[in-house]
Amino acid sequence: MKIGVFDSGLGGLTVVKAISEKFKGADIFYIADTQYAPYGDKTQNEIKQRCVQITEFLINKHNIEALIVACNTATSAAIKYLRQTYKELIVIGTEPGIKPALSLTKSSHVAVLATKATLKGEKYQQLVKQLSEGKNITLYEKACVGLVEQIEKGEINSEQTYNMLNNWLLPMKKNGVDTIVLGCTHYPLVSEIIKDIMGNEINLIETGEAIANRLIYLSSLKGHNDIKPLKISICHTGDINKNMINKIFKNYKNKIEIRKCKI
Ligand code: DGL
Repeated sequence: MKIGVFDSGLGGLTVVKAISEKFKGADIFYIADTQYAPYGDKTQNEIKQRCVQITEFLINKHNIEALIVACNTATSAAIKYLRQTYKELIVIGTEPGIKPALSLTKSSHVAVLATKATLKGEKYQQLVKQLSEGKNITLYEKACVGLVEQIEKGEINSEQTYNMLNNWLLPMKKNGVDTIVLGCTHYPLVSEIIKDIMGNEINLIETGEAIANRLIYLSSLKGHNDIKPLKISICHTGDINKNMINKIFKNYKNKIEIRKCKI
C-alpha cells in the first residue's frame, strides 16, 4: 500500500512515528512542506489550495491509495474538500483530542494548545460545542504563536522555548488544569518541557496513535494484510532540520530516505 502523509514540517512525523510502531507493509511518502511553513498563520483558503497541490503531487508522483493529513491546521481548512474530491482515496485527518481529554480530566479544567488557524476554524468550534455542551468544563485555548518555528529550528531545549511555554502554561497550572490537548502535531516534540512545567502527572493528549488505529482499520477494509517492513521516505520543500528527524526516529531500525523536492 502506498500512503501519502503531509504536514507543514516536522510535526506530522510524530504521526508517522506512531504509525511505524504498529502498521506494516506500506510505503510512506511524507511531505514536510517547510517552504510554506508555518500553516498556522495563513488563511483557510491559502492552506486549502496548498493541501490540494500536495495531494495532487502525491497521487501523480507516488500513486497513493491513502492520504493522511498529519496536521490539525490543514485538516481544519481542507479535509472536507479533500474527502469530497478524492473519493477513491482513504483520507484521514487530524483533530485535537477533545473527547479523550474530557473523559480524562478530574479537575474539569482542560487546555487546548493549537495554532491560531485551528482554534479559529469552524471544525474546531463545532467539535468543542458538540462535546462540551451541558458539561461543566472550563476550556483554556491557547494559540501558541512561534512555537512551531522554534521546533522546526530544533530549539527544543532552548531558554526561549521554555519561556514561551512557561508564560502560556503557568496561569493554566494555577487554575488547576490537569489535561492538555496537544492540538498541533508539532507539540508532542516539546512534551517533556510541558511536563517539566506542569508536573509529571499532567495528562497530555496526542492523536498519533488514534490515527494509526484508524489507518489499520480502514486499510483492512480494503484488504490490506501485508506484513513487510514499512518504508519511509521524507521529502521536504524547503529546509529541514535533519537532527530533529534523527531524534524523532531514534528507535526506528530501517533506513529513512530524505530528499528535497519541489511542489
Ligand atoms: N503541525 C501543524 C498542526 O498540527 C501546524 C503547524 C503550522 O502552523 O504549520 O497544526
